[in-house]
Amino acid sequence: MLNLGTKLKAWHGHKKYPVVVLVMFVVSVSVALVLLFNKYEENPIPVPGLPPDRKWNRFESLVQFNPKREFRNGTDLIWQIPDSPEAVLFLAHGCSCRAVNFWDKSPKCPECVGLPEDRLLVLHALARKFAVLTISSVGECWTFGKERLIVEDIITWWVKRQNLGKLPLVALGASSGGYFVSAIANDLKFSSITLMIAEGLFIARTSKRTIHLPFLCTCQKIHIGNKK
Ligand SMILES: *[C@@H]1O[C@H](CO)[C@@H](O)[C@H](O)[C@H]1NC(C)=O
Repeated sequence: MLNLGTKLKAWHGHKKYPVVVLVMFVVSVSVALVLLFNKYEENPIPVPGLPPDRKWNRFESLVQFNPKREFRNGTDLIWQIPDSPEAVLFLAHGCSCRAVNFWDKSPKCPECVGLPEDRLLVLHALARKFAVLTISSVGECWTFGKERLIVEDIITWWVKRQNLGKLPLVALGASSGGYFVSAIANDLKFSSITLMIAEGLFIARTSKRTIHLPFLCTCQKIHIGNKK
């Protein structure tokens, strides 16, 4: 009996001990957390380095954004022409995107967004002396009826107005924009086109016409011929 009593006591003692340790641990962690958060609130830890707006723009760029914007035929065009341009680049966005995505927000273009990859395309093109023209699709994606004629008309008009008609005209389109670029390449005289993650659509409008067009493509599919 005595033996059993001692065993029972010892067993209870051992069981209680970890409970006390656990309670103390939880209490000290809570106290530490409360102290820590109070400290953060009273005295926020300073972020080392520059404020975010300067942090992401601190690398001196070879070129600066200085775009012009105009509305025509129910859409907006945004462009920039470097000093002594050597070629013209038309950029066609993908579905759900807009011309404003290619340009950094600035007092001249408060609606501009400057998406990371899109803005880099423009900066690299400007640095290589391309005059860059961006146009927004009217709907979410590009369409191939009236819109195709309107955009062809805008590009032709714009190139002429800027006196850039003697320079090579090239285009780059992503997704729906790539498909669109391949479609307008049947009418406009591009020196070359680039299609990113897109389907290519090359239709000879008349059976007599042959199109010689260098193109770079990360293509999903290419249609060649008179297929609609
Ligand atoms: C685009 O707008 C201009 C000027 O308003 C007009 O002359 C031209 O016909 C329009 N183009 C198309 C394809 O509607």
